[in-house]
Amino acid sequence: MSNSFRNASPEVCPHCPLSHDRREFLRQAGLATMGALIMVGVPPGLAATTRPTRVSARSRRNRNPTYPIPAQDGVQIDHDNDVILVRWKNAVYAFNLSCPHQNTALKWSPTDAEFQCPKHHSKYQPDGTFISGRATRSMDRFSVERVGNDIVVNVNAMHKNDVDRAGWSAAAIVLTGAE
Ligand code: FES
Repeated sequence: MSNSFRNASPEVCPHCPLSHDRREFLRQAGLATMGALIMVGVPPGLAATTRPTRVSARSRRNRNPTYPIPAQDGVQIDHDNDVILVRWKNAVYAFNLSCPHQNTALKWSPTDAEFQCPKHHSKYQPDGTFISGRATRSMDRFSVERVGNDIVVNVNAMHKNDVDRAGWSAAAIVLTGAE
């Protein structure tokens, strides 16, 4: 150890860019941060590498959202309940808003008359039938019931056409054309 180091004041190290006080402050701050992470249940070693977790399904506001029968062909997107309601060629369907591939919110393209996924570009017909892209099934349909002039959507009954083809096909209201 050199004389200059031994003779230096304890607060000032001539070989270090930081003063003793500043280093002590940073050490204490680091310990405090580590303590806070432990309190919220995050192991300190993971804190720098942990990414935000994407929520795959938001809680729906309404367990049985109800919509008037659309007067004409078209698409309504209910973001509060993550439901897409479609009237198409005298039938009404209710779809899960999430792409069946990786749960990205689907978008309707009026120009192309198809649903499109902005993430990996899967495409679907207005009745939810898969056209192309990375998804491996059609859009997921909810059970629907006609009550008077309304469509009641049962968001607890979702049908995936790769494992429940009959349920998926039945999840539609066929209109008479007079509505
Ligand atoms: S999330 Fe839609 S195609 Fe991948």
